[in-house]
Amino acid sequence: MTALSLAGEPSRSVSRAVHLRGEPRLPGDKSISHRALILAALADGESLISGAGDGRDVQATAGVLAALGVTVERARGDGLNVDYRVASPGVDGLHEPDGVLDCRNSGTSLRLCSGVLASLAFLTVLDGDVSLRSRPVARIIEPLRSMGAALYARRSDTLPPLVVIGHHRLRAIDFTTRVPSAQVKSAILLAGLRAEGRTTVREAVATRDHTERMLRSRGIEVRREPATTSGGGPVAWTLDGGARLRPLDQKVPADPSAAAFWLVAGAIHPDAELTLRAVGVNPTRRAAIDLLTRMGARIEETPVGETPEDADDTGEPLADLTVRSSELHGIDLGPDDVAAAIDEIPILCLAATQASGKTAIRGAGELRNKESDRITGIVNGLRALGARIAVNGDDIDIQGPDQLVGSSIQTFDDHRLAMTFAVAGLIASGSTSIDRAGSAAVSYPCFFSELERLRA
Ligand code: S3P
Repeated sequence: MTALSLAGEPSRSVSRAVHLRGEPRLPGDKSISHRALILAALADGESLISGAGDGRDVQATAGVLAALGVTVERARGDGLNVDYRVASPGVDGLHEPDGVLDCRNSGTSLRLCSGVLASLAFLTVLDGDVSLRSRPVARIIEPLRSMGAALYARRSDTLPPLVVIGHHRLRAIDFTTRVPSAQVKSAILLAGLRAEGRTTVREAVATRDHTERMLRSRGIEVRREPATTSGGGPVAWTLDGGARLRPLDQKVPADPSAAAFWLVAGAIHPDAELTLRAVGVNPTRRAAIDLLTRMGARIEETPVGETPEDADDTGEPLADLTVRSSELHGIDLGPDDVAAAIDEIPILCLAATQASGKTAIRGAGELRNKESDRITGIVNGLRALGARIAVNGDDIDIQGPDQLVGSSIQTFDDHRLAMTFAVAGLIASGSTSIDRAGSAAVSYPCFFSELERLRA
């Protein structure tokens, strides 16, 4: 098997910016875009998705669904975002694909689609690039097997490629996730839609709840215990199997994880003012905004409604965010903060290098299971730029503030590391060279052209 590689990915050099001004264009939320496509595939009829992020990950999900018999039409695109028209024969009309399903770099495609495939009585093989082949899958194999599907993977069922032989009569389960993971939760809920009985997923802290909101908006009753979306602590999600999804028009909000790069850029650059429009500020996704505010970032938030309007826990709250140059100070982040800001920890580490005092991050082990070992990548890269950063097991300590000095940085083909070090380049002296920076297009096509525009 030849793993798909990102060979030819271009490197980029970023030099210090004199100022940063303007309104970065953001991709549609990656998590919501994947889910919108998948839920459209489960519903019988035509769904419209407007403003989906056009990163490679979301394209991978579109490709997987097309291989299962869904018509996925790109109605309109501008290189950053795309409108999809999705016509599905309904979940029972999906068919066994002719070949391997290529999830490329996308853990979300692989894990969420497995939840769907678990209830379809045919065989699929899900594979992807070198990075994806190092991502853990035992966490989805265990619950989906206990529901009655057969799943197998390389290295004693731990690593992709993943084989799924679905079962048309799944059993509902009551499952407690071992690590906070919205992908695992969503895979189980998607399988639970087609299981006999009531499926419950319990998690120690609430992870992103887009699947639950989007199911509700398509007529599925998804209950949450405790019912309130504020406050931390354990939470349980429950749904009954057997209900049918209706097709829906979905508008995708701007991605808060992509916005986080500009929030940090604006806060740490000495002459910056950036405004981000209609960003998703769902309580389970806004941790980076709140953590940066705790660090002293000057972020002004203006609510601008919900998608769809008036919805109660079915839509996604939106806000315009303006960030200005800030004096940051170090803070402590615990494991619950890490779970809530799992995709933003790399860029928050960069913010910490510009904050006075110590930022202590505890329990960051899940970062090792992302597109790369992000603890190693961030520590090596920030050290190369002259930051004081120490790791002890899964804990990270960063002392600031330090003037960063441009250097050559390895990104391990990880989109979030590439964008983190590009933002570092905007404040570092000299030039920062980021290897294989083209991986940014996994979640944020046009990221580098936006960066050039804002500094002009
Ligand atoms: C995602 C969940 C998170 C996150 C990923 C997207 C999702 O992964 O890191 O980028 O859309 O459900 P885990 O579930 O592995 O934490």
